[in-house]
Amino acid sequence: MGLPPYKGVPQVSESILLEMNHIRKEFPGVIALKDVSLQLRAGEVHALLGENGAGKSTLIKVLAGIYNADSGEIRINGNPVVIQSVPDAQRNGISVIHQELVLVPHMTVAENIFLGREPVAAGRVVNYKKMNRDSREILDSFELDIAPEDEISRLTIAQQQMVEIIKALSFNAKILVMDEPTSSLSEKDVGFLFETIKKLKKSNVGIIYISHRMSELKQITDRITVIRDGEYIGTKDTAAAANDELIAMMVGRKLTHYYTRTFGEPQEPVLEVKNLNDGKLLHDVSFQLRRGEILGFAGLVGAGRSEVMKCIFGIDPFASGSVLVEGKPVKIHNPEEAMRLGIALVPESRKLEAIFPMQSVMFNITIKILKEFIKGIFVDKEKEKSITREYVDDMAIKTPTFAQLAGNLSGGNQQKVVIARWLATKPKILILDEPTKGVDVGAKAEIYAIMNDLVKQDVSIIMISSELPEVINMSDRVVVMRGGNVVECLSREGLTQEKIMQYATQLAS
Ligand SMILES: Nc1ncnc2c1ncn2[C@@H]1O[C@H](COP(=O)(O)OP(=O)(O)OP(=O)(O)O)[C@@H](O)[C@H]1O
Ligand SMILES: [Mg+2]
Repeated sequence: MGLPPYKGVPQVSESILLEMNHIRKEFPGVIALKDVSLQLRAGEVHALLGENGAGKSTLIKVLAGIYNADSGEIRINGNPVVIQSVPDAQRNGISVIHQELVLVPHMTVAENIFLGREPVAAGRVVNYKKMNRDSREILDSFELDIAPEDEISRLTIAQQQMVEIIKALSFNAKILVMDEPTSSLSEKDVGFLFETIKKLKKSNVGIIYISHRMSELKQITDRITVIRDGEYIGTKDTAAAANDELIAMMVGRKLTHYYTRTFGEPQEPVLEVKNLNDGKLLHDVSFQLRRGEILGFAGLVGAGRSEVMKCIFGIDPFASGSVLVEGKPVKIHNPEEAMRLGIALVPESRKLEAIFPMQSVMFNITIKILKEFIKGIFVDKEKEKSITREYVDDMAIKTPTFAQLAGNLSGGNQQKVVIARWLATKPKILILDEPTKGVDVGAKAEIYAIMNDLVKQDVSIIMISSELPEVINMSDRVVVMRGGNVVECLSREGLTQEKIMQYATQLAS
């Protein structure tokens, strides 16, 4: 069986490290991969691009030995290999950084890095000394402020992601796969990661890189393979591929409206936060959210944006300061009280804080509004279904049925489910923490359009975002935070990425 012809680039002559040919993988009710092929050269960074649910993670899991393909073949250096388990993959020099964190929360950093291959001392006990020493060495080479003895559950999401990355690197793999490695990393960590990738390239490691951030793909990949609905669409040289062309390959159509936003006149404040202190990071945080506006929150990772919202929403207590909703001082002690005041918060880490993986899509969407369907001792299933249908359609959530377990959806679709859950509560004040993280371009456009519809209906939105183009194009005003302080509130006129970054870093104080 020959390879599928490469559309766009000539057949490669360089040494091909890995070939995945005509891979097919079916799940009950879903054909995740119909016929996907991928070629990876030694020393190449190869992007895998496609919409949420296109099959990217599934392809990677086939390579990693987590799923067994229904058909197709894998070759390494031209030789067919059988990969039916994770150890099989490791033996073949394949190492994977998965989209979902798979670290063991109650073990230490070192234990996680060496899980299953712990060094043993005399008497066949684990040599913790050596394990910690070796881990320390790797952590230091990344200049990370993490100790080998730290328990995973105590680390921030970004730190956990760095541990994942380090763990994958410690296998000295010839083939390294990164499934959205940067989604929760700080700018500094992304910098380290990219430096590491460059070094690995030089030592001829082949890297498969999955990300929804086009700018990253342009920066570090050599070629891009696009898949759509489980099918191979084509492969392009990164340098020669225009964004529009890639998007058209991904979504199968031209995307005309990306940012949808109609700006209205400023109205009265609906939420006022005055001198909020949490006794830890936050220092005298004050701002106003007006009716029917989108208020962007920009800043570096760790600036305190999510912390502010958690205080307002009653997840975390605050030491001093006041919150007014529609002019009235309120005391919010827990999320239920916040919801009663018409506030909703879509958290950043959907996986850890929000999704119920072993429950259905319908359950996950309607859980917050369940009481609306209860009539006596019965649940009005029809109403529950019709609401679920509304959001699955509006947000183009890709699922075979409403009964599908949410944990089986692709990463991006799980995020849409969580956003839908909070929209269903019909909030007056909607707080979105990184709403488009891990979401594909088409779905991003859908989320922007939904946000625009909501503000037109006088809902007020706070949007925390690290994607500056989205902040600039969607926000009426932008609050910039740095080190737990609000440093500036910028109006829409004359807003640029540079201006925001100046305030977010030390440069303009
Ligand atoms: N274990 C599973 N059981 C059932 N269906 C699954 C399973 N894993 C994935 N799927 C389905 O296979 C399809 C491809 O999912 P996959 O996770 O590979 O997408 P993806 O391209 O990685 O998307 P994203 O960008 O959102 O991460 C989706 O329709 C998904 O719902
Ligand atoms: Mg995925």
